[in-house]
Amino acid sequence: KNGFSFYHIIINKDIPPVHRAGTEGFMVKLNELTIEEKLRLLCGEGSWNTCGLDGKIPSLLMCDGPHGVRKVERVGENGEQIPLKSIAYPALQCLTNTWNRKLARAMGEALADDCKEKDVDILLAPGVNIKRNPLNGRNFEYFSEDPYLAGTMACEYVDGLQKNGVAACVKHYCCNNEEHNRLEQSSEVDERTLREIYLKPFEWTFRAHPEWIMCSYNRVNGVRASEHGKLFDTARKELGFDGAVMSDWGAVYDRTAAVKAGVDLEMPFSRENYERLVADYKAGKIAEREIDVCVERILGAVEKRLRRRGEKVKRSEKERLAVAQEIAEEGLVLLKNDGVLPLENGQSVSVLGRYGAGEKDYTSGGGAAQVLPLAGDVTLAEALKEVMPDSEIDFEKAFNADGIESYGEKPHRILERCAQSDVSVICVGTGRFVEYESADRTTLKLHPLQEELILQTAAQNPDTVVVLYAGGAVDVSAWADEVAAIVYAGFNGERGNRAVANVLAGKVSPSGKLSETFPVCLEDTPYYDTYRDVTVARYTDGVDVGYRYYETAGVGVQYEFGFGLSYAEFEYGDLEIELKGGLNAEVSYTVKNISDYDGKEISQLYVRDAVAFVYRPDLELKGYAKNYIKAGDCAEVKLTLDKSSFAYYSAAKDEWIVDDGVFNVFVGASVKDIRLEAAVVVENGGIVKVKIL
Ligand code: GLC
Repeated sequence: KNGFSFYHIIINKDIPPVHRAGTEGFMVKLNELTIEEKLRLLCGEGSWNTCGLDGKIPSLLMCDGPHGVRKVERVGENGEQIPLKSIAYPALQCLTNTWNRKLARAMGEALADDCKEKDVDILLAPGVNIKRNPLNGRNFEYFSEDPYLAGTMACEYVDGLQKNGVAACVKHYCCNNEEHNRLEQSSEVDERTLREIYLKPFEWTFRAHPEWIMCSYNRVNGVRASEHGKLFDTARKELGFDGAVMSDWGAVYDRTAAVKAGVDLEMPFSRENYERLVADYKAGKIAEREIDVCVERILGAVEKRLRRRGEKVKRSEKERLAVAQEIAEEGLVLLKNDGVLPLENGQSVSVLGRYGAGEKDYTSGGGAAQVLPLAGDVTLAEALKEVMPDSEIDFEKAFNADGIESYGEKPHRILERCAQSDVSVICVGTGRFVEYESADRTTLKLHPLQEELILQTAAQNPDTVVVLYAGGAVDVSAWADEVAAIVYAGFNGERGNRAVANVLAGKVSPSGKLSETFPVCLEDTPYYDTYRDVTVARYTDGVDVGYRYYETAGVGVQYEFGFGLSYAEFEYGDLEIELKGGLNAEVSYTVKNISDYDGKEISQLYVRDAVAFVYRPDLELKGYAKNYIKAGDCAEVKLTLDKSSFAYYSAAKDEWIVDDGVFNVFVGASVKDIRLEAAVVVENGGIVKVKIL
């Protein structure tokens, strides 16, 4: 019911899980280790360390999580692990809605400084699992439904983290796309879908050479991910992965099988598994040379860290908090605005709803990713007062203490005030009691009492603005038509309300766009008819994930992939495609700001294979850019096309191929709002003709 208040129940009674960085020891070579030491090295130490062989080599310290460092400081009386305070950045869901590669890199760099301050060697992040199922309890921790957007943003994040001295651990490898029965569930997926959709984000991050990946709990096509030799071979031999593999916590059932498959490190330490591994070795079930392969990779990972330890923190706390706020501002998506926004200084505003209080339980999800914020957020009302000093602004939580909505004795007074204010701002959402690790949501709708509050308030005041604090898609169909504006703030971190206030007050023009489709309702989603299978999640939707399904099947959505409004207005023009040989080309176009507001615009490039000999989605994202364009100015955008823009993975030939024929190239403000179009003809593996349409 309450999700994970404190994520980790102590897994090993005999070793305290409290972190410590093993600075003792120095590097050793494989041949200087006994077989006993090698076997011990394959298993972690406590909950958060690699094994230091009693000081013989450094012990690496690892911590969650994708949007803030969760370093356990002490253990509570009932076994819960209590973390140190650390900057709570917006969740990766919010980061991706910025479509800003520079901010993805900046978040990685800032997190690396947070890690260095706490002597953390490895950050267990980012999660790059594709958002196939909008109910997934951990979607707030992931990037997108689209592999190209997820992969390119994750690659920047990993590079920013590692170039600033801390190892990344990309997770969860792979096909961990729901939390429902995650320890036993099997993701049933065909090879082409695996390559084009679920492995693709990992493949993109491998360009930044993550030092670790983490295998997932679930099975893939019936085989546990921790024993899936084929998947690890694919990563290492075909996708460019050159780091080490650790298990998810408790994901190893047979340590010997996992070593043979390529899981180098089991986390956390399991005495039972370790002793079985030793027994298997003694019984000749596993050879020393098989053990050496994993030990080599662990020694390599330790050595990489050793070279980076002691690096200075580069950014002040203030600068890192500013990064958190910038991401929250740019990750905010304006879904509806009938003109009520931006607000004007002097207008009276009533802010209603606990989600506007800036409390971490309501502006983040639960589980391993949960951060204990450094300073915590201000309320939205306080933040608005900062930027609208002449306005009368009041705030009413309207919820009772334990988070269950109840308006009890107050509704009438609250609603009267809403009716008297110029604008009513209603703060609603999900939070860690609804979106958390180890369980999926049961509905895409908000709590009924929240929907009731929205409708009651809107009935009192036509200028009602809804601010939505959620980590994933929400079914807004019951109330979206009744309100004047909808702002999707996301799980936006400890500077989130300052960011929302800056946008509502017009200090910042909203520029975020959806990285995950908002369907009209759960029944419209493509996976819906197979979700009930308890042990097998059949990926019958194949490559039709997210907009690939809705656009191809012609199923309407509430708000489409890539959609987001701005206070500014942009006009696209001057599309050109310059051939660069083979399948390489440069696509250029202009984006003109025809409004009085300065703003940022995310333009998107989609490709359609118009005459494919295999099934292909109607169109796929193959490029994007974000440009700051002052009022009246015009930006020239250049994006590149190459083989990956046109190819599909052929299950018949086990390779990526491009069939000859006609391809459409679209440039749009969203997947539906196409502004420019061209056609290219491919013959014998090269573009031979371009036609601007
Ligand atoms: C959890 C999560 C993983 C996390 C790890 C350590 O089970 O699945 O994302 O990094 O354990 O907390």
